[in-house]
Amino acid sequence: PAIPTIKNEPVKPFSHTEPVDWDLLRASLLRYTDNGSLDIPLVINGERIYGKDTSRTIETQINPGKLSQELATVTQASEEDIKLAIDAAKQAKLKWLNTPFVDRAAIFLKAADLISTKYRYDVLATTMLGQGKNVYQAEIDSVTELSDFFRFNVKYAQELYSTQPSETSAGVWNRVEYRPLEGFVYAVTPFNFTAIAANLIGAPALMGNTVVWKPSKYAALSNYLLYTILEEAGLPKGVINFVPGEPVLVTDTVLKDPEFSALHFTGSTKVFKNLYKKISDNVANDIYKDFPRIVGETGGKNFHVIHPSASLLHSALSTIRGAFEYQGQKCSATSILFAPKSIWEDFKTVLIESLNTIKPLNTSQPEGLNGFMGPVIHEASFNKITEAIEQAKNDPELTIISGGEYDKTKGYFIEPTILQTTNPNHPFLKTEFFGPLLTTYVYEDVNFEQILTQVNNNSQYGLTGSIFAKDRDAIRLAEEKLRYSAGNFYINDKSTGAVVGQQWFGGARASGTNDKAGSGNILSRFVSIRAIKENF
Ligand code: SER
Repeated sequence: PAIPTIKNEPVKPFSHTEPVDWDLLRASLLRYTDNGSLDIPLVINGERIYGKDTSRTIETQINPGKLSQELATVTQASEEDIKLAIDAAKQAKLKWLNTPFVDRAAIFLKAADLISTKYRYDVLATTMLGQGKNVYQAEIDSVTELSDFFRFNVKYAQELYSTQPSETSAGVWNRVEYRPLEGFVYAVTPFNFTAIAANLIGAPALMGNTVVWKPSKYAALSNYLLYTILEEAGLPKGVINFVPGEPVLVTDTVLKDPEFSALHFTGSTKVFKNLYKKISDNVANDIYKDFPRIVGETGGKNFHVIHPSASLLHSALSTIRGAFEYQGQKCSATSILFAPKSIWEDFKTVLIESLNTIKPLNTSQPEGLNGFMGPVIHEASFNKITEAIEQAKNDPELTIISGGEYDKTKGYFIEPTILQTTNPNHPFLKTEFFGPLLTTYVYEDVNFEQILTQVNNNSQYGLTGSIFAKDRDAIRLAEEKLRYSAGNFYINDKSTGAVVGQQWFGGARASGTNDKAGSGNILSRFVSIRAIKENF
């Protein structure tokens, strides 16, 4: 079928100099804060189950930038609920499987339109409040990237479906059918991007699969809104079942089911390895009908390597953005910097001066949410990062060159912090902290090639990274030496901010299965091809 022309949703430039309807944003923020905490149910086969009416466990979601503000109570699924969600997914599959592509596509295209128009300020508000984003970070996540995923997946699905065998012989018609997987898909989604949650559920569902969805409790508010928007767009009951719950209970119950056909995951490397192992043990024990597809995007230790020929101002400002936008809580965030000695003093001055101009996020009024540095997501994250800062203070191989302060009286706020190490093998150059902490190593200019080898050898990860240089030979050398160090490799740009359809996203090594969100590759993981030969 002819589908609408798909283009990236334009980013609304939220700033005081641009026309922004702050009144609409304020109204949405108030809707989610002035009426007390929102009760978030489970949704199984379209039926809502509220924990407060039953004996189920309830968790709360609080505003990480204003700890006194409870945003939601989140019903936790029991083992029985999860089994019901699995049954609902299996039942809904019978009809969804035969629902024509245009009808499935229309739901996601309509949801994208609802998000970029009618619900724009609500998805912004829930993402800002719950996930601690400033308005610009919420916009590029929950409005543009999210609606881009829904729309581009439709385009890529159509391209995939129209890819057919090119060879044939007389009297024969060869074709392939892109069947959904035979069982159901389990989506485990992270707190940090509302858009990622949307893609983890949306990509398999678009391809005719049904889904059991475990959202992060730290993103329950925006994720439940997303579910309700999909419902308004026409998603049939049971196609996606929303079951927040205790992670091990939900996962273990789901993974025991013989019709578990795929995991679509974004989260930590540690949890992914654990799930991988459980799945492979179950495969070995003949639990499943299928060999489940395992699609995961996990951690990173993403680099900026600066060559002496680089534009100093551009590379320094890009480093600030890559490392500290959204408090470094992007899997793509820049967390290690390699700078040449010849330009280091000037480079450092730009880093420090620009950090000094950064405004903190003020959660008491919407315009304050235009500030740069918000909170980290929860106490465990705050503790992990601040313990690293304290460790740095006592480590003779580390110097704090900017930041280092933190305060959790109001919210989980940590200053953007830059460390410098004298040890090119320092553990801080290898460990992921998932927060506003950048570790720098300054190398002798003549050792550029050696430093590329070092970056490559040091990293168990392979997610994102950047080379900043004007010298073409330096760029080529970096491309070669860092071939497997990053699934998203940037030349003269920061390591974050992949745009759907433009920079296919994902990494290999310990960073995931590199199936590339925002491309047709990911969709191909959620179909099971049947080759059909017909003789005439
Ligand atoms: N896709 C996002 C980025 O590229 C991170 O998850 O920054």
